[in-house]
Amino acid sequence: MIPITSVRFGKAEEDLVLEVLRSGSVAQGPMVKRLEDSFAEKFGVKHAIAVNNGTTALVAALEVLDLQPGDEVITTPFTFVATVNAILEAGATAVFADIREEDFNLDPDSVAALIGPKTKVLLPVHLYGQMADMDPFVALASKHGLRILEDSAQSHGATYRGTYSGGFGLGTFSFYATKNITTGEGGLITTDDDVLADRLRILRNQGTRERYVYEVAGHNYRLTDLQAALAIPQLDHYESLVEKRRENAAKLIDGLAGLPGLVVPHQLPGRTHVWHQFTIRVTEEAALGRDDFVSALLDRGIGAGVYYPRLLFDYEAYRDHSRVKVTETPVAARIATQVISLPVHPALSHDDISEIISVVSSLATGH
Ligand SMILES: Cc1ncc(COP(=O)(O)O)c(C=O)c1O
Repeated sequence: MIPITSVRFGKAEEDLVLEVLRSGSVAQGPMVKRLEDSFAEKFGVKHAIAVNNGTTALVAALEVLDLQPGDEVITTPFTFVATVNAILEAGATAVFADIREEDFNLDPDSVAALIGPKTKVLLPVHLYGQMADMDPFVALASKHGLRILEDSAQSHGATYRGTYSGGFGLGTFSFYATKNITTGEGGLITTDDDVLADRLRILRNQGTRERYVYEVAGHNYRLTDLQAALAIPQLDHYESLVEKRRENAAKLIDGLAGLPGLVVPHQLPGRTHVWHQFTIRVTEEAALGRDDFVSALLDRGIGAGVYYPRLLFDYEAYRDHSRVKVTETPVAARIATQVISLPVHPALSHDDISEIISVVSSLATGH
């Protein structure tokens, strides 16, 4: 089986983890600070605040925006469930706009049509490693006095017209096991805003900066130094990790071009894609339907995944939720029936890529 993801650590990670073990400082100590400093420097933001996962990163980021009951956050229904869970956890109402076929991300025109007096936050998710079309969101936010929160869980180091993911106000990242940079579990929030950064640092640590002085009702969202130690070498070598993903994506794009009923993904002008996922679409013209296509891929040893099979508001847990507004999102509804993600991770060999291309081609053409 060629796996859809592969988690690999090397000597540099081992050495840093050992350094933490020998130091005896294991919870939000110097290694966490080192990770925050290098993340901020590498991805061009003033502040990076590490937390224990990407979901709590979203919750904390929403909480420092002081949302009141009834305040609305507009996001995409075609995302991982954490995006909506965080909105609900922060006490806000989730409103869903449609997405664009070209990048699987929020469509600014659909968002604009949903902005009303209760709207407070626009929450684009940069799905699969390519950023949403940010210029129109920046224009909408400034016109209507809204905040932008980027769910950058899948887009470490991606850029939009030269600005890194997480650089448009507030950004949240995940270091979950399958992500481009992983600490097993982990997360981080980025911002250039000194006041928000200060509040986030307090919020993640039980509302304190000084022992037994509680400034706000906070959380324990702290990251451990053992986890930070895993991320630092990956961050140091991030360019080469992404380069390998880009090379793999380029070979897949080339090898899968022109197959009947298949649409391959592309990096759009003005953006750099970090290929967290390589996601093709299976359209009505294909020899097999999407679900049969995935089963056949798995049967033939290709680790394929469907991210995501249903829109979030389509699940019972959310459909009748008093703080979820169900809307018509026809593009997202169609795309959710078409996507298949294929392996693109840095551990793939040349032979693995050839095998993926050969199996996908034979299934698409029926021979
Ligand atoms: C788009 C998106 N948002 C949020 C999250 C939540 O991150 P975590 O799993 O670290 O809580 C993830 C990843 O799992 C994700 O893919």
